[in-house]
Amino acid sequence: MEVLLVVESWFGNTRTIADAIAQGLSQQGGRVQMLNVEDALAEVPAGVDLVVLGAPTHNRGLSTTATRQKAIAAGAKHGATGAQEWVDTVQLRDGVKVAVFDTVTSKSWFSGSAAKAAARTLARRGLAAAAETKSFTVRGLKGPLRPGQVNAAQSWGQHLARQ
Ligand SMILES: Cc1cc2nc3c(=O)[nH]c(=O)nc-3n(C[C@H](O)[C@H](O)[C@H](O)COP(=O)(O)O)c2cc1C
Repeated sequence: MEVLLVVESWFGNTRTIADAIAQGLSQQGGRVQMLNVEDALAEVPAGVDLVVLGAPTHNRGLSTTATRQKAIAAGAKHGATGAQEWVDTVQLRDGVKVAVFDTVTSKSWFSGSAAKAAARTLARRGLAAAAETKSFTVRGLKGPLRPGQVNAAQSWGQHLARQ
């Protein structure tokens, strides 16, 4: 199974989850190419069976220019675009499966979910109507990840590969 894993991360937490998911996928025989969302092209390479997208939750959804500026002001790495820009433009061939994950401060309605926001955009565009979503928790704006999240991410990667 060929997997494209696209990740947005400002403080490194979502990237750590992506690494663990990639490990789980590989353990089940998946071949994973990981790209920062800024480097991901709108055209998904031919031969990809599964696209996994990960992003941090900002203001209950996907990051915007304004929320990214706040992250940068709080010490995050610099960057210009995020997952919203990618899901707005990505082209997916029929049959390519999609799974989306995010990092959130809690799994409650109040936190919102970048993954659900991304899945909604894809569904609205007529792509990946049934994208699976999953959230992983951090302690605060900069993290760290809450205990057990890396193991949970690895298990989710294994689960995705078995689908
Ligand atoms: C501007 C801004 C807004 C945020 N809004 C939310 C939010 O609405 N819900 C939430 O759960 N976390 C929110 N967070 C915290 C993020 O969940 C946290 O920064 C992220 O998971 C860290 O991932 P990263 O290290 O990959 O950037 C926000 C963070 C920033 C910088």
